[in-house]
Amino acid sequence: MAVPRGRLPLVAAVAVFLAFLCCRGEAAARELKVGYYAETCPEAEDIVRETMARARAREARSVASVMRLQFHDCFVNGCDGSVLMDATPTMLGEKDALSNIDSLRSFEVVDKIKEALEERCPGVVSCADIVIMAARDAVVLTGGPNWEVRLGRDDSLTASQEDSDNIMPSPRANASKLISLFAGLNLSVTDLVALSGSHSIGEARCFSIVFRLYNQSGSGRPDAHMDAAYRRALDALCPKGGDEEVTGGLDATPRVFDNQYFKDLVALRGFLNSDQTLFSDNARTRRVVKRFSKDQDAFFRAFIEGMIKMGELQNPRKGEIRRNCRVANCSPVASRVVDI
Ligand code: HEM
Ligand SMILES: *[C@@H]1O[C@H](CO)[C@@H](O)[C@H](O)[C@H]1NC(C)=O
Ligand SMILES: *[C@@H]1O[C@H](CO)[C@@H](O)[C@H](O)[C@H]1NC(C)=O
Ligand SMILES: *[C@@H]1O[C@H](CO)[C@@H](O)[C@H](O)[C@H]1NC(C)=O
Repeated sequence: MAVPRGRLPLVAAVAVFLAFLCCRGEAAARELKVGYYAETCPEAEDIVRETMARARAREARSVASVMRLQFHDCFVNGCDGSVLMDATPTMLGEKDALSNIDSLRSFEVVDKIKEALEERCPGVVSCADIVIMAARDAVVLTGGPNWEVRLGRDDSLTASQEDSDNIMPSPRANASKLISLFAGLNLSVTDLVALSGSHSIGEARCFSIVFRLYNQSGSGRPDAHMDAAYRRALDALCPKGGDEEVTGGLDATPRVFDNQYFKDLVALRGFLNSDQTLFSDNARTRRVVKRFSKDQDAFFRAFIEGMIKMGELQNPRKGEIRRNCRVANCSPVASRVVDI
C-alpha cells in the first residue's frame, strides 16, 4: 500500500481509532439459549456433529482433545474462544501457557468446523459456541449422553497466557486445591468430580505423571495410592529418564465415554494425581466418586449439569464473531489479509 508521505499521520490516526473501536468496551452479559442459531444458521449443529464424526474416523483421540478445549477455554475469562487464538507479536497466546503447551491439540478440527460454517453462514457462528457444541458431540460420539447446548456467545478480542498460567490446575493438584479452584467459579464438589469424569476419554503424557511414579511430593517415592500392578504398567510405559511425550489412556477404556474412570479410581488405577486424589485424599470427593462408580446414569446426569454450568462462565468484555478462530478480526494479522 503506497501512502503519500504527508498523509501518514492521518492514516496512523485512523488506524489507532479503528483499533480503539474494535478492541474496547464492556458488553452486557449475553443471554444464552438453546437453538440460538435456528434462524441464522439452522444447520450449524449438524455441521459441527458431522465434522467431529469425520475427525474421530481419522483419529479416534481427536474428539477428546477437542472436548478438553471447553475446560481450558471456559475457566480462563469465560467461554470466549480465547484458547483458540494464535499468539501475535503483541499478544502471548494461551496456547503457550503452562498447562497447554505441547498438550492441547486438535485445533485443526475446530478450524475445519469453522471453515464449513463460514461457507454455509458467514460471520454468524462464534468460535466459542463451536467449542461448546463440539465438546458435547465428543461425548455423544464416544457413547456418552446427549444434551441440548445453550448458545449465543461472542468470541474474545484477546487471549491471556498469564491468566491461563494462574488459573489452570496442575496434574499434581490435590482434591482440596481443586475444590477451591472450582468453588471460585461457582462449581460444586459434585461438579468437580463429574467434570473430572471427562477423563473417561483421551490420553495424557508421561510428562504429567513421572513425578508421582518416582518422586511424589518430593519424597523420592511413588504415590502410595496406586495399585501395584497398575504402577508396574505405568513404570513400563514411563520409565525414569524416558520419553515423556509418550501417552497412556486416562482410564482403562479411553475411547469410550462411560463410568470406567470412576471404577478405576476406586481400584487405585487413576492415571493423573489430580484424578486419584479425588478418591484417595478427600472424604467429600470420595463419596461422589464411589457413587458414580456404581451408577453411570447418575454420572451422566451430573456431567451434563456440570458442562452446562461451566459453559455459562462468561467474558464480560465486548466481543465479536471471529472469521478465523485463531485471529481477532481487527488484529493487524487479519487486516493484512484483507489489504492484500
Ligand atoms: C479437575 C482438574 C483437571 C486437571 C488437573 C486436568 C488435567 C489434565 C491433564 C494433565 C491432562 C493431560 C495433559 C497431557 O499430559 O498433555 C488432561 C487431559 C484431558 N483433560 Fe483434563 N484436567 C482437569 C479437568 C478436566 C475437565 C473439566 C475436562 C473437560 C470437561 C477435561 C478434559 C480432558 C480431556 C478430554 C483430556 C484428554 C485430551 C487428549 O487426549 O488430548 N479435564 N487433563
Ligand atoms: C494440597 O496442596 C496444597 C498445595 O497446593 C497444600 O498446601 C495442602 O496442604 C494440600 N492438602 C492436602 C490435604 O494434602
Ligand atoms: C458466582 O455466583 C455469584 C452469586 O450468584 C455471582 O455473584 C458471581 O459472579 C458468580 N461467579 C462467577 C465466577 O460466575
Ligand atoms: C524429588 O523432589 C525433591 C523436591 O522437589 C527434590 O529435592 C529431589 O531432588 C527429587 N528427587 C529425585 C530423585 O529426583
